[in-house]
Amino acid sequence: MGKDTLQRFKENETFTLLHQPPFETIFRRDFHLKGSWHKDFFHNTNPIVLELGCGKGEYTVALARQYPGKNFIGIDIKGARLWRGAKTATMEQMPNAAFIRTRIDCIESFFAAGEVSEIWITFPDPQPKNVRKRLTSTLFLSRYRHFLQAGGLLHLKTDSQLLHEYTKASILHNRLELLEANADIYGSERTDELLSIKTHYEQLFLKQGLPITYLRFRIDGDRRLSEPEATSYEL
Ligand SMILES: C[S@@+](CC[C@H](N)C(=O)[O-])C[C@H]1O[C@@H](n2cnc3c(N)ncnc32)[C@H](O)[C@@H]1O
Repeated sequence: MGKDTLQRFKENETFTLLHQPPFETIFRRDFHLKGSWHKDFFHNTNPIVLELGCGKGEYTVALARQYPGKNFIGIDIKGARLWRGAKTATMEQMPNAAFIRTRIDCIESFFAAGEVSEIWITFPDPQPKNVRKRLTSTLFLSRYRHFLQAGGLLHLKTDSQLLHEYTKASILHNRLELLEANADIYGSERTDELLSIKTHYEQLFLKQGLPITYLRFRIDGDRRLSEPEATSYEL
């Protein structure tokens, strides 16, 4: 491990807005703020918005600056990446930003029913060979359903045609509510301050000339979700 990474890990320990619970304390067990993020951490009743696989946390930090009336939590397993967002949020003394270092697979340990109002998934690994590991697989959507408010929004921004088509097919197959599907946000007329934030990976993909896609949808309901046929989305 490089000197910089070790230094970041050390500094991460000093950030009060970064939570890094040991795996054994959250595996099938509740994190101490589950159900009390509003009361015991943010000290307000504002909506909570998550960024999953946040990397350096560009969306979490930029949205927290733009929307002081909402709370933002970035989640990723990589501490050296999270350091960037946690450091900026700490230096700017942001009262409405937090980060969690954990595996998203254990996300139900962190949030209670109805505690979260929106989820952003920004440039996740498309996992071409392993559907269940996709952050928009029905396995993960079923987990998010446990804590996303009724009417809550899910946003997926990706360069991956496969992940975009797969997620769209799953939304249609499971009769979820699709609010927007955009196959090329910068090539379309769409100008939206929400979508104009560019993450680290997004900038790399833009340099390669890849179109950036966007989906916004809801996952309300309690009907069991099932995977769409691969032939309905594979290119
Ligand atoms: C391609 S990067 C994108 C990072 C950032 N959103 C961006 O756009 O620059 C994907 C991120 O998701 C994280 N990730 C993938 N699967 C994860 C999981 N199951 N739990 C936690 N983090 C995960 C990785 O650590 C990585 O930082």
